[in-house]
Amino acid sequence: MSQIKDKIANLIERREKAALGGGQKRIDSQHAKGKFTARERINMLLDQGSFEEFDMFVEHRCVNFGMEKEHFAGDGVVTGYGTIDGRLVYVFAQDFTVFGGSLSKTMSEKICKVMDMAVRNGAPCIGINDSGGARIQEGIDSLAGYADIFQRNVMASGVIPQISAIFGPSAGGAVYSPALTDFVIMRKNASYMFLTGPKVVKTVTGEDVTQEQLGGAVMHTTKSGVSQFAVDTEEEGLSLIRELLSYLPQNNMEDAPLAVCGDPVDRLEDSLNSIVPDSPNKPYDMYEVIGAVVDHGKFLESQGGYAKNIITCFARFNGQSVGIIANQPKYMAGVLDINASRKAARFVRFCDSFNIPIVTFVDVPGFLPGTGQEYGGVITHGAKLLFAYCEATVPKVTVTLRKSYGGAYIVMSSKHIRGDINYAWPSAEIAVMGGSGAVEVLYAKEIAALEGEERAKFVAEKEAEYAEKFGNPYQAAARGYVDDVIEPRNTRFRIIRALQSLATKRLANPAKKHSNIPL
Ligand code: HXC
Repeated sequence: MSQIKDKIANLIERREKAALGGGQKRIDSQHAKGKFTARERINMLLDQGSFEEFDMFVEHRCVNFGMEKEHFAGDGVVTGYGTIDGRLVYVFAQDFTVFGGSLSKTMSEKICKVMDMAVRNGAPCIGINDSGGARIQEGIDSLAGYADIFQRNVMASGVIPQISAIFGPSAGGAVYSPALTDFVIMRKNASYMFLTGPKVVKTVTGEDVTQEQLGGAVMHTTKSGVSQFAVDTEEEGLSLIRELLSYLPQNNMEDAPLAVCGDPVDRLEDSLNSIVPDSPNKPYDMYEVIGAVVDHGKFLESQGGYAKNIITCFARFNGQSVGIIANQPKYMAGVLDINASRKAARFVRFCDSFNIPIVTFVDVPGFLPGTGQEYGGVITHGAKLLFAYCEATVPKVTVTLRKSYGGAYIVMSSKHIRGDINYAWPSAEIAVMGGSGAVEVLYAKEIAALEGEERAKFVAEKEAEYAEKFGNPYQAAARGYVDDVIEPRNTRFRIIRALQSLATKRLANPAKKHSNIPL
């Protein structure tokens, strides 16, 4: 056999060995846990045959605790690039079959390499996490590796979309890389993220808690808000990443791709003319409104299980990607509270970073009162949402469906904070506060002097008077604070037109190092 043939055979052999990561036994153990390997995950994520791997032959350099005798080509992470729907993405997937996917210095160098390339070439970076944390045998070198990744996460933030999937453990400081990315997807009952595990919790606080309760997908998508999406299977998580990317541009210098739209632009939605109940205290479902106006009724919700009083989702109008923020009257009357403010603020900032226009549907009775909220700093958290909307320079289209009271009126993309086109339905009530609250303040003395039926009659009369004067969109329309009062069934058409007119919008904030958003 010629020399080159031998060399090629040797290369193939090396590749085959590297492809097995920590070996067939550990691969079998990974499969037995109902988990895919790093390479299987990447192959499922990317367009078929598009993956180009880097650093398959990288090995760790640790000589502590007998590590010099244990080497696996690739060292615990599979990295490279490929395409999703034909668009370039960079990817790394931790390989649990090699030292439990634990992070060594060389592994971090591999991850940093693809992150740097993703930023340089303006393409999203996707990380699939399945790791026992810092490679214990490497000590501080492993921590240094984490720090290198964190620094890159921050530099890449707002430049390229960064998405993390958590398909196994992610514990200790390791959680901070996913936490610094734009979206975190977790698999239910198979992944967890926490700073300290159940054993340490028991020692320090005495609490008995399972991994799933402490840092599982359900907890993080409903209570902490650390993760945006919970999925049942890895396949579901990977196809979710593909779907999510379809709404996003490659980087902050580009626009999101335009989808082919078979849904008529001028489709009228008669159901919207009767969706808002006559009684202001009766809820309706904002999902129905969103579904009725967006292309093909299709949208992708982020943080659907967290702060359900506000909805944040991606959708399309005439093929154009938008971020939708909508109060949900069906849940806590759509009130703004700490969690809703944080959730929506982060979403607004994401959309603004990546040139995705913002469409806001308003039906908000105000901010939630009470000591719980005030002690928790609702002022600061509410200010985050206000700040995010004020700062955003992307096209902003707002439709007020019903209530829009007080500070919440201003916050929810009002004209005053650079809302570009603001529409209201005839059912809109744009005022300082709702009728009953206003009457109690305005007529406190008169009400106190009355009793029983007389009192009820007086209050009802005054409330009707208030509703007549302020319970409509025309005070705002008379001042140009809403650009038009529209028939609900025309909403889709009017939004599409508005977005088209704003396609060439030019607006820049003053040059500065960075803003000081009230964190
Ligand atoms: C080196 C590790 C490792 C680690 C696991 N392994 N974690 N090797 N460093 N951190 C190895 C195991 O020795 C084993 O090797 C293989 O990976 C699989 O691990 P198992 O324990 O057999 O798997 P499983 O039963 O599924 O348990 C997974 C686990 C557990 C829950 C993750 O391995 C574990 O608790 N690991 C330690 C976690 C930890 O304390 N990490 C440090 C956190 S501090 P073999 O050869 O048998 O296959 C931290 C600080 C980061 O991360 C700070 C950043 C700023």
